[in-house]
This record gives sequence, structure tokens and C-alpha cells, in this order.
Amino acid sequence: MPAEKCLYTSVMHANPSFSPATAQVRINLAERSYPIVIGTGLLGLAHTYQHLPKAATALVVSNTTVAPLYVAQLTEALRAHYARVLVVTLPDGEAHKDWPTLQLIFDALLEYGCDRKTVLFALGGGVVGDMTGFAAASYMRGVPFVQVPTTLLAQVDSSVGGKTAINHPLGKNMIGAFYQPQLVVCDLDALQTLPDRELSAGLAEVIKYGPIADMGFLDWLEVNLDALLAKEPAALAHAIQRSCEIKAWVVGQDERESGLRAILNFGHTFGHAIESGLGYGKWLHGEGVGCGMVMAAHLSQRLGKVDAAFVGRLSTLIKRAGLPVKGPVLSSADNAGRYLDLMRVDKKSEAGEIRFVVIDGPGKAAVCAAPDALVREVIDLCCA
Ligand code: NAD
Ligand code: GLY
Repeated sequence: MPAEKCLYTSVMHANPSFSPATAQVRINLAERSYPIVIGTGLLGLAHTYQHLPKAATALVVSNTTVAPLYVAQLTEALRAHYARVLVVTLPDGEAHKDWPTLQLIFDALLEYGCDRKTVLFALGGGVVGDMTGFAAASYMRGVPFVQVPTTLLAQVDSSVGGKTAINHPLGKNMIGAFYQPQLVVCDLDALQTLPDRELSAGLAEVIKYGPIADMGFLDWLEVNLDALLAKEPAALAHAIQRSCEIKAWVVGQDERESGLRAILNFGHTFGHAIESGLGYGKWLHGEGVGCGMVMAAHLSQRLGKVDAAFVGRLSTLIKRAGLPVKGPVLSSADNAGRYLDLMRVDKKSEAGEIRFVVIDGPGKAAVCAAPDALVREVIDLCCA
């Protein structure tokens, strides 16, 4: 991404109520614009939420893992702004990103008599964020919502940009809406309780931004990966800020994915096939994306867009991040055929033709179709 073409704004926050290290990245979408605040101690600070729309009620949506860790801090902060602060706790896991779990949010909203000004707060990872956003998009045809992401993956990707969804057994994130939050609060402290496997999954989405948009960031990641794996706050803060800046730059130009935004799906076509083919929750989303990026890099090489050294460099970084670089066998009969069938359900497919995000030279991505024979070669090479 050429620096002069960066449309994002990134400023150090001057307000003394925030930690001095608090940074802000802005998503520029006219009347749907909003800030992403990144720093320590933000989640439990009343000041963080002071500019949100006024309402009588806040409903915090969380899950059985995250609620015991962070819901008390958040609800206490929100009590400074809302007369009623309610909580609904969902079952944890990708396998629950479905209609029955979504219905629990609507049940709570209606049973508590929540009006159309009620503000929803998504406290958790991408699963809670995607479901809360979808509930906010559809309850009374739309109520405001705030993302309070607590995984690295959610802080660098899913909480930003307004994609909300649930899964269908036949396809990942197939039912949803574009609906932007009012605010995203990335509290670095929350990452300290994140299990190592989840941290690695988040690193997949961080690494993604290098090959598609910023090779300088890829250089930085190679040098600082160990600091990120050790959860050093300064390294995490930089990785989150740069990831959000790149995502803001993309979303600011193509909110509804009519073109450019598809590059954020690098590795996802193969990754989603792995997730749905194995059954949701077996591999983490970020693990599918990590391995999917290796496969997509090999495809890019076969299409003549990058060389073997580039593929090796990316694969090494993904492996160092603790992510799988070999795909699972999804069928003992015709494994590549099974992958192809699953990938045809991808949202980027057009008239049954799969469209892949490929690296079109280092730091630049493109979307294109590829001959099945070439894709089969890649799957055969990359599956254990
Ligand atoms: P997740 O939401 O399942 O969270 C991972 C696990 O970590 C869960 O068990 C969760 O309870 C736990 N957890 C969360 N925060 C924690 C903390 N601070 N301490 C301890 N445990 C914690 O998974 P995820 O990786 O955050 O998100 C993956 C989901 O995001 C997928 O459904 C994917 O499709 C979606 N996604 C959406 C977008 C988008 O643009 N909307 C982008 C990328 C991914
Ligand atoms: N995570 C892909 C997107 O937001 O478009």
C-alpha cells in the first residue's frame, strides 16, 4: 500500500483520562464513521464510552468464558452512562455461531423490554462480535452497537469493518449483514488471559496484512514475532494499530466488498473450506486462515505472480507463529475434489466459479479464478 494513498487517520490520543499509550484509528465512512481505540485499561474506564448515543439501557453480550473475566469491569464502567445495564451470556465456540444462539440475544432484548435506543456491547472474540453485530443490525431494524474485542483476532480484524454473520452448516458466515459499530475498544490487557493457541490464531490475521498491503509490516513481524508471542504490550499495540490502519484503508474505499475489500480474504477461501469441511470448531478460524494463506501463496506462485522464495518466507513466518502449514485431509476418496466442492460455496464465487485472493507481487493482492487442475496440485502438495 503506497504511503501517499493511505486514507486512514492515526493519532495519539491527547486526552489525559486515557493511558498515554492510547492510539486511535478512524474508520472513515461518512455518517457511519467511528473510532477504534487501542490501549491498556480501556475496557473498564467510564470515559471510554462517553461519546456513545444516549440511551436508558445497555445490553452486554458475552460468553461463558469471557463474561467471568471481564463483564464486571465493563458493566461497572457502563453504569456511569446507562440506567440499566443488562448481560446475556452465550455458550462459547464457533459451533454456537448459529440461529439458536442468536435467538438468545433477541430473547433477552424482548424479555427485558429493550427499546430501539438500547446500545448492544459485544464483549468477546469474533464469534460474540459477529453475532452481536447481526443482532444489532436486525433488532427493531437496527440499534447501535459497540465492539469490545477480547481476542487478538477480533482486535485486528473481526470487530472492525461491519461484517456480521452466523454460520450455516453448508457454509461459513453465510447469513448476515453489513452493519457498522459506533466504537471499537481494543484493550491490550484483555489479551493477557488469551490462550496461546488463540493468540496464534489471531496472528494469522495480523500476518495477512503484510503480503496483501505492506511488506514493511511483514519485515517488522519477522523481527517482532517472538515479542508478540510473549504478549509484550508495545509489540501488540503496534501490530494491532497497523492492522487496523490497513483494514481502515481498505474498508474506507469498499465498505460492502464490491471489489478491493475481497483482498482481506487472503487465505480464507481454503481456510473456510477447512473449517466447514472438518465441522466448525475443530480448527480455529485463524488456523484455517494461516494454512489457507500457505495454499493461496502456492497458488499465486503457480500463476506466476510470486516466486518460491516468497512462498517459503510466508510459510516460515506462519509456522513460527504456531499455525498449521499443512491442510487436513477432508476426504479419503477425492480430497482435492472435496476442497473444490466446499470452496464453490464461498461468497466470492460467481456462477459456481471459485475466485481466489492471490498475491499479485509482494505487498499487493488480486482476486482471480484459477484452473481446477492447478488448485488440485496445490491441495495435493499442501495436505498432510
Ligand atoms: P472466538 O470468538 O471463538 O474466541 C476464541 C476463544 O477465546 C473463545 O473460546 C473465547 O471464549 C475465548 N476468549 C476470548 N477472549 C478471551 C480472553 N481475553 N481471555 C481468554 N479467553 C478468551 O474466536 P475469534 O478467533 O476471536 O474469532 C473467530 C470468528 O471471527 C470466526 O467466527 C470468524 O468467522 C470471525 N471473523 C469475522 C470477521 C469479520 O470481519 N466480521 C473477520 C475475521 C473473523
Ligand atoms: N475479514 C474480512 C473482511 O472484513 O472483509
